[in-house]
Amino acid sequence: MIILKSPQEIERMRKPCRIVAEILELLKASVRPGITTSALDKIAEREASVRGALPAFKGYSGYKFALCCSVNDQVVHGMPSNRELLDGDILSLDFGVLCDGFFGDAAVTLPVGKVDQSSQRLIDVTEQSLYSAIEFAVPGGRLSDISSAVQSYVETRGYSVVRDFVGHGIGRSLHESPQIPNYGQPGKGPKLKPGMVLAIEPMINEMGYEVNVLSDGWTAVTCDGGLSAHFEHTVAITENGPEILTRLA
Ligand code: MF3
Ligand code: CO
Repeated sequence: MIILKSPQEIERMRKPCRIVAEILELLKASVRPGITTSALDKIAEREASVRGALPAFKGYSGYKFALCCSVNDQVVHGMPSNRELLDGDILSLDFGVLCDGFFGDAAVTLPVGKVDQSSQRLIDVTEQSLYSAIEFAVPGGRLSDISSAVQSYVETRGYSVVRDFVGHGIGRSLHESPQIPNYGQPGKGPKLKPGMVLAIEPMINEMGYEVNVLSDGWTAVTCDGGLSAHFEHTVAITENGPEILTRLA
């Protein structure tokens, strides 16, 4: 069952979503060669607490950190560590908070120092695939219009869509119905309605779409060692179209 949010509830979701956006922006300013991902995790946790929010991922299914930090061929759910970031790495940061009863969730992929053109292109195409999909988060459409928008944007540019992870509804829980795959035929699935709030999150690989989860139980990596990028926004469907709640105004 998809839980519809009233306009008042969507108002309340602005705060956790804004906090997530602010903290990702702060982290972006700290990402540089030599910093460790665990230092970034500490910044995220402290900045959430300063804002009266709880990190949403810490304690979720036993995950021990505030932030997911996925480097290069890591797709999602990379764990913060004492590994220093290197010039030329790409880093996906995924962060969520709980505040006043509601969750916000977003992700970005960032270049570390100077990256080569092909890495930057993967980052740009993944980000644009998210914005192309968000345009389909409108009343009257169907859920799979969003999925198919990601797939067609990405595949026509030579990349592949990860199958093993999906976006999700979000609200009083981090993960609500529906699941949102990033591939599929348009025109299928539930009808989109005002009051739906969706975390749309394309995970895009440079080469094949296959992924493996490492023996740590969390870190997803590409099977072929190719790079992977991830962007996510929490988006409310309103009468007036999509509203990106995790974007700073
Ligand atoms: N944005 C991811 C998701 O929606 C992050 C979850 S990480 C976890 O699933 F640690 F919370 F599992
Ligand atoms: Co999410």
